[in-house]
Amino acid sequence: MKNIAVLTSGGDAPGMNAAIRAVVRTGIDKKWTVYGVRNGYQGLINGNFCPLGARDVGGIIQQGGTILGSSRCPEFETEAGQDKAIRILHQNQIEALVVIGGNGSQKGSYALFKKGFPVVGIASTIDNDLYGTDITLGVDTALNIAMEAIDRLKTTASSHQRAFLVEVMGRDFGYLALMAGIGGGAEFVVIPEIETNPEQIAARLRADYQKGKAHAIVVVAEGAKYNVEKLKQYFAEHRERLGFDLRVTILGHVQRGGAPGAFDRLLGTRMGAKATECIARGEYGVMVGLINGLISTVPLEQVVNNRKKLDLSLLEIARSLNK
Ligand code: ADP
Ligand code: F6P
Repeated sequence: MKNIAVLTSGGDAPGMNAAIRAVVRTGIDKKWTVYGVRNGYQGLINGNFCPLGARDVGGIIQQGGTILGSSRCPEFETEAGQDKAIRILHQNQIEALVVIGGNGSQKGSYALFKKGFPVVGIASTIDNDLYGTDITLGVDTALNIAMEAIDRLKTTASSHQRAFLVEVMGRDFGYLALMAGIGGGAEFVVIPEIETNPEQIAARLRADYQKGKAHAIVVVAEGAKYNVEKLKQYFAEHRERLGFDLRVTILGHVQRGGAPGAFDRLLGTRMGAKATECIARGEYGVMVGLINGLISTVPLEQVVNNRKKLDLSLLEIARSLNK
């Protein structure tokens, strides 16, 4: 008999609920009591726990967001905040914690683990910027939303011979933008990893129209040096010379919302089950991810001390596909 707790932290991601459900139900299957922590690390510090039964997580696998709520909690980044969280966990007789979240959240997991608390992380963010896992929970659904938006924009862009800039999320990592650009058949992709100036984009758009293309879609990562705001301003200032009627779409939080697709429902479920499996055998200080197609674990120490690299050969593929 064990008491375990689960929380979701940082940016919510489609599939988090599938992971919560799997942690709760596989935990119950092991005859444990499972507690949910409300609103991420803030709830941990405030002692905001609630016992979760099998029925409490019924009907959530298809829901986006997180039923537990999430937060950004600066207090938890301090030693005092972390010590307080551990005190509260002990007071509530919690023996292990599952943290579902992205880069910042897993830094938090590692901080707790280094202080001696048994933690298992689950890699979850639409940014796919976590070292040690090929893919994170939520990115597939977000990518599908971005691609659908690009598909729709293409229709209207072709009708008016306009150039469209589409900004996608991803923080300072270009994965979402690059993959959405390739999957959506965009003409050009601007990512933080490769500096691209507005003149290069203008030259590219011009070449595309000269080829006889009816539209030009440029996918821009929010973390690029020239994000859409800056590009829009630059193109407006040089309107006469560049000669483009530019339209801008910022997808924003639409990418994070909505029902998870099959991939994220299954990934979240498998990751949740793996997390309780780790707890059962006392494997702590690890993050559950997907490595070479297998649900696997990676030490949190590696996760937080390394930066994921974007496979730039994909950018070359994207470039060579634009004919
Ligand atoms: P994500 O997990 O989606 O990347 P954030 O970067 O906002 O989102 O991190 C979520 C939360 O994780 C933060 O609000 C904070 O409470 C905690 N966190 C972030 N960085 C650290 C850190 N270096 N040490 C401890 N906790 C951290
Ligand atoms: O980390 C997920 C993410 O959606 C990033 O892509 C984005 O930069 C950020 O969160 C937005 O954060 P918030 O929801 O706090 O505005």
